[in-house]
Amino acid sequence: MQFVKSIKRVKRIVAAARRQRKTVGFVPTMGALHEGHLSLVRTACKKSDFVVVSIFVNPTQFEPHEDLRRYPRDLTKDLALLKNEGVDLVFAPSVRVLYPLDFKTRVTVHDLSSVLCGITRPHHFQGVTTIVLKLFNIVQPDIAVFGKKDYQQAVIIQRMVKDLNLDTRIVLGVIVREPDGLAMSSRNLHLSKHDRTNAVVLHQSLQWVKMAFKGGLTDTKKALQKMRRMIHNKGGKIDYIEAVDKNTLAPVKKLRKGTLLVVAVYFSSTRLIDNTVL
Ligand code: PAF
Repeated sequence: MQFVKSIKRVKRIVAAARRQRKTVGFVPTMGALHEGHLSLVRTACKKSDFVVVSIFVNPTQFEPHEDLRRYPRDLTKDLALLKNEGVDLVFAPSVRVLYPLDFKTRVTVHDLSSVLCGITRPHHFQGVTTIVLKLFNIVQPDIAVFGKKDYQQAVIIQRMVKDLNLDTRIVLGVIVREPDGLAMSSRNLHLSKHDRTNAVVLHQSLQWVKMAFKGGLTDTKKALQKMRRMIHNKGGKIDYIEAVDKNTLAPVKKLRKGTLLVVAVYFSSTRLIDNTVL
């Protein structure tokens, strides 16, 4: 496995793989890797000949009040995990490599970026699309793998790829969960023992609606009310709970097959998200 920090070297190494007629798979990450990331890496390994993983804690996707320094980092452990998965190339540039001081450009996918997580994090998705487009331009992957846990992010990136005629195919990986159902996230490390126990209610509330929908419930209001109550009882401070169309992210009045249920909840100061598709 090669480990590089410079854009030039990534381009050179990927070009050499292409000359050997290898297809290139890419998994962008912010590090602090867990099983969720590794399952995306395994998908990339299965679907392509040469796998590139980036590790970059992207400052432009953090809101001014969010603590970028608090984001977990463990490069040594990340590299060992990726080596074990058979990754070919890890790209871990510094902030100044990707954002020189005179950097002026932003990429925005309108509308989709200003709903759900975009309400409380108005700059977040612009930061994500800007960095993902930069990384795609550097790596030029045939496929790129993103997790369904960040469903809104996946929808926005798919839109960007379509709107900007990019040649990369987006592959979505399933949500990987802890044995009790909590969706894996680097942010879980910040939860106290008490909050960690209670946070499982996110998955439980989504499962409750899934079961109720199977039993005939279609009233969105009733479903969301029940979820709100369940989460509130476990001390979660709700940012949003919505039932939306999984392509347009527009709210739906009636639950139907394919409806996306999304939640964002604070446990103390840690914000967790989860979702399921009915
Ligand atoms: O999902 C993430 O970890 C990040 O948003 C991404 C896609 C690596 C961009 O920084």
